[in-house]
Amino acid sequence: MSTIETQSTSVQALHSETLLRVKDLRVTFNTADGDVTAVNDLNFSLKAGETLGIVGESGSGKSQTAFALMGLLASNGRINGSALFNGKEILNLPEKKLNALRAEQIAMIFQDPMTSLNPYMRVGEQLMEVLKLHKGMSGSQAFEESVRMLDAVKMPEARKRMKMFPHEFSGGMRQRVMIAMALLCRPKLLIADEPTTALDVTVQAQIMTLLNELKREFDTAIIMITHDLGVVAGICDKVLVMYAGRTMEYGKARDVFYQPAHPYSIGLLSAVPRLDAEGESLLTIPGNPPNLLQLPKGCPFQPRCPHAMDICASAPPLESFGEGRLRACYKPLEELV
Ligand SMILES: Nc1ncnc2c1ncn2[C@@H]1O[C@H](COP(=O)(O)OP(=O)(O)OP(=O)(O)O)[C@@H](O)[C@H]1O
Ligand SMILES: [Mg+2]
Repeated sequence: MSTIETQSTSVQALHSETLLRVKDLRVTFNTADGDVTAVNDLNFSLKAGETLGIVGESGSGKSQTAFALMGLLASNGRINGSALFNGKEILNLPEKKLNALRAEQIAMIFQDPMTSLNPYMRVGEQLMEVLKLHKGMSGSQAFEESVRMLDAVKMPEARKRMKMFPHEFSGGMRQRVMIAMALLCRPKLLIADEPTTALDVTVQAQIMTLLNELKREFDTAIIMITHDLGVVAGICDKVLVMYAGRTMEYGKARDVFYQPAHPYSIGLLSAVPRLDAEGESLLTIPGNPPNLLQLPKGCPFQPRCPHAMDICASAPPLESFGEGRLRACYKPLEELV
């Protein structure tokens, strides 16, 4: 999805309280070559029903941000900072509390549904198990509720498909099963980590539309992780643009899409196909994503930035401008084209 025609401002977001408040989140990995900071002092907040996009190239720290919130970090990782969910700290929780939180309050959809579905169990059994375990439902209650949720994600012939194994579904249908499974316990927050990258463009658009509808139906807040700013513009209220673990830019998705205020966001956008620029060739950002063990001094984007200046050798602070926007860049806005 590359235009913002489908964007909806979530009505709930206008009146509800903060659901998640992340403050100075830092994820550091201990490696044989030294410490690596994959997520570097991230700050953001989310209200019920609101959608935040986290965008960046490969290795920018998007997944590790999600894993830190879900308590899924690798054993060589450590977390600093705070994440208040409904006012309660969720970082570094003990396993038992994490399990309850993960199933009932926060759910995650991964890039590849096959890594989350058991290939030897019928899809229906997998859905029902979640409800029996976390909601204490009987077999027949769990069956009916699972069918209802498969219907909600627009699975054709939901009742019949309960008996099928994951390999009998197409990629897009498997992703729908994952979304159904994630929403079974009616979580307040859904984290979707590149949920459509393994799918073709048409199916991608269908899944995004579905998520957009579901967020309104179930009043679920969503963190949408993607490398595609076009996807973000289509379904998100706000966007956080990440590079080398840091926030480069933050603001309303619409503002960032139409008036990006950081050279990195501009680079990402020129790599997005736009319907209003038919015939123009797509650009890519020159150079490679950074090696976290050898970051330059100051702004990490500097070696690839067409606007780099001497001053960029000291890290630009994240400064506010406009309405609710932030950016970390020294280049005057009016000179950014
Ligand atoms: N266990 C680990 N030990 C050391 N470094 C790690 C570990 N796990 C992740 N990293 C590093 O953390 C950085 C951020 O990784 P992350 O998975 O968050 O990237 P991403 O933005 O999700 O990228 P992608 O778009 O490819 O999924 C990467 O440089 C990665 O190599
Ligand atoms: Mg990732």
